[in-house]
Amino acid sequence: MRILGIETSCDDTAAAVVDDTGLVLSSVISSQDAFHRKYDGIVPEIASRRHTATIIACIDEALLQAGMRIQDVDGIAVTYGPGLIGSLLVGVETAKGLAYASGKPLIAVNHLEGHIMAAFLRDPAGEASPLSGDDFPVLALIVSGGHTELVYMDRWLHYQVLGQTRDDAAGETLDKFAKYLGLGYPGGPVIQRIGAAGDPLYHVFPRVMQGRSGYEFSFSGLKTAGINYVKSLPAEELEAHLPDIVASFESAVIRELVQKSIKAVRDFAPHVLAVVGGVAANKRLRNSFASEGHIVTYFPPMKYCTDNAAMIAYAGSRRALLGMRAAIDLDASSSLGIRDSSLED
Ligand code: KG4
Ligand code: ZN
Repeated sequence: MRILGIETSCDDTAAAVVDDTGLVLSSVISSQDAFHRKYDGIVPEIASRRHTATIIACIDEALLQAGMRIQDVDGIAVTYGPGLIGSLLVGVETAKGLAYASGKPLIAVNHLEGHIMAAFLRDPAGEASPLSGDDFPVLALIVSGGHTELVYMDRWLHYQVLGQTRDDAAGETLDKFAKYLGLGYPGGPVIQRIGAAGDPLYHVFPRVMQGRSGYEFSFSGLKTAGINYVKSLPAEELEAHLPDIVASFESAVIRELVQKSIKAVRDFAPHVLAVVGGVAANKRLRNSFASEGHIVTYFPPMKYCTDNAAMIAYAGSRRALLGMRAAIDLDASSSLGIRDSSLED
């Protein structure tokens, strides 16, 4: 079975073809970063217009690279939430039109489920040996621009949310700190680049939720502490120690993610911890988890951490295997949660 995936939930237009073993036959991503950069953040109206302009070309290219035509796919999977409503609608309406015209099944996919499925994708270049159905139970730490959550998964399509952020997401925190420093958008990769040469122990930010027993995250206090710290610094110190300051802040965000994940791993004893979502592309984060030798951790290849359609196609494939298909009047849902997509026991 080969599924075409379509992803337009935020600011990347993406299409991909993946088979039911998770093998990626093609994965095309058209980044909109250049259009949003001058605003230091995503402008929703620009995002949906750019999706409209590029979606068909992305789908054509994904089919071409897979050596297929639309008649050859076994289903069309599309992200229907969560995300920016105008962006989501472009993907959903395009997928509906394609499904209707081709007679292929339409499959509705939750973007967060897609991020988890990235851990099961098989890359043709064979960079990493991905997870499989033998690895359950899996604990997934989803760290993206809009979400930070720990999700326990004991079988396909069953999701139990252990904890999530009470305020800002990890990626959002990095983006806002970078914006405050005038480093540009998206902030995560810039922070990684500038912080690479810095000393992460230059300044130790206080832990916000230390001592709390659950698996909830909170980043808004850290963001404020970061901004207040920068405000308090003489201009010369900021200039001379920018890499150290950035590395210290990046480390504080990572420490929060690692500590809560370790606690959940101890309490729930999953087979493996899968760290997924855009922030999982971060090198310092990967090294921090790797240094926790007692935890078995899996990171998807970088290109499947940030938004892509291969992860959506594979989630669609898992749903299609169970005969699930969406109605042709499928609507986008901007505030969809991972719980909404969990199968009942
Ligand atoms: O998963 P994603 O591509 O989109 C959402 O679903 O939100 O994640 C985007 C987020 C942004 O906040 C971006 O700054 C962050 O992931 N990000 C990174 C890196 N690459 C992307 N954060 C830290 N280090 C990176 N290398
Ligand atoms: Zn995402």
